[in-house]
Amino acid sequence: MENKIEREMEKETENKNIEIGTENIEIGTENIEIGTENIEIGTENIETENKNMPDKKEAGTEIVVKALNEKNVDTIIEGIDIVRTFLMGEVEVRVLRGISVKIRRGEFVAIMGPSGSGKTTLLNQLGLLDTPNSGKVIINGADTSLMFDREKGRFRLHNLGYVFQDYALLPELTASENVYISLMMQGKSKAEYESAAAEIMEAVGLGDRLSQLPSKMSGGQQQRVSIARALAHNPIILFADEPCANLDSKNSKEVLDLFKKFNKELGQTIVMVTHEDWHAEYTDRVIRLKDGMLE
Ligand SMILES: Nc1ncnc2c1ncn2[C@@H]1O[C@H](COP(=O)(O)OP(=O)(O)OP(=O)(O)O)[C@@H](O)[C@H]1O
Ligand SMILES: [Mg+2]
Repeated sequence: MENKIEREMEKETENKNIEIGTENIEIGTENIEIGTENIEIGTENIETENKNMPDKKEAGTEIVVKALNEKNVDTIIEGIDIVRTFLMGEVEVRVLRGISVKIRRGEFVAIMGPSGSGKTTLLNQLGLLDTPNSGKVIINGADTSLMFDREKGRFRLHNLGYVFQDYALLPELTASENVYISLMMQGKSKAEYESAAAEIMEAVGLGDRLSQLPSKMSGGQQQRVSIARALAHNPIILFADEPCANLDSKNSKEVLDLFKKFNKELGQTIVMVTHEDWHAEYTDRVIRLKDGMLE
């Protein structure tokens, strides 16, 4: 019988050009969308039309290769003078007003600040889910402002992992299918992606839940599946936007303990937005935002 995940992909991408392979990830612009925020996994990008950006040079692939060869650089993310504005009606609102940050390899960093201060917007710039109006983001030595959208998509697919407040799991897929979908998109073999999914599901304490549907799991379990999905391809950075916001304190603690474990044992760099002071105690450092500026 046809694999459910393939059916899902076909359904989502009907009449679009699907080529799965490391060099050729083409899932059209409609794409597989995870979550309510329309974040698209590793493809042509969330469209972030940006009139203020300088012309991009044809340099993306080289940049990615260069980035991966520079693993020993100490700074893994550098945001330089990031400005992001949104139009609200006819008024242009500067949500990020020139933010410069550096995050070290292996750091576990919290982004905190009042509601509306720009935390999610900043995370989305650092995680390449959005494009700043001006300023740039350097990841692992690569100037991402020089990448085409398609290259950015590939860079995200291979190098970055995301966890969201609402878990963003595909409801028709089992837990392990949700976890290995990005590995499939990377062109890994069935044996590779199934064993990688089983291994990471074990690491998040759900080794016995591989074929369970998300709807049959608690919120804490679903969030652990989404952490497994985010980490299955060994991303260089894990981005998490209020991962515990829908969880009670026991499940929040489990999620934070997992983050801490991956941070300490594997040196996983983590950038996490949170509202709670006690969550920040798990992290090495807090970046505080107020009105789109660093405090
Ligand atoms: N796509 C968008 N279009 C218009 N305005 C936006 C957009 N995204 C964010 N904003 C505005 O930017 C400001 C900062 O939003 P952001 O979501 O980054 O805040 P936040 O600090 O994450 O808040 P919260 O704690 O409530 O999640 C808000 O005023 C928001 O309305
Ligand atoms: Mg937010």
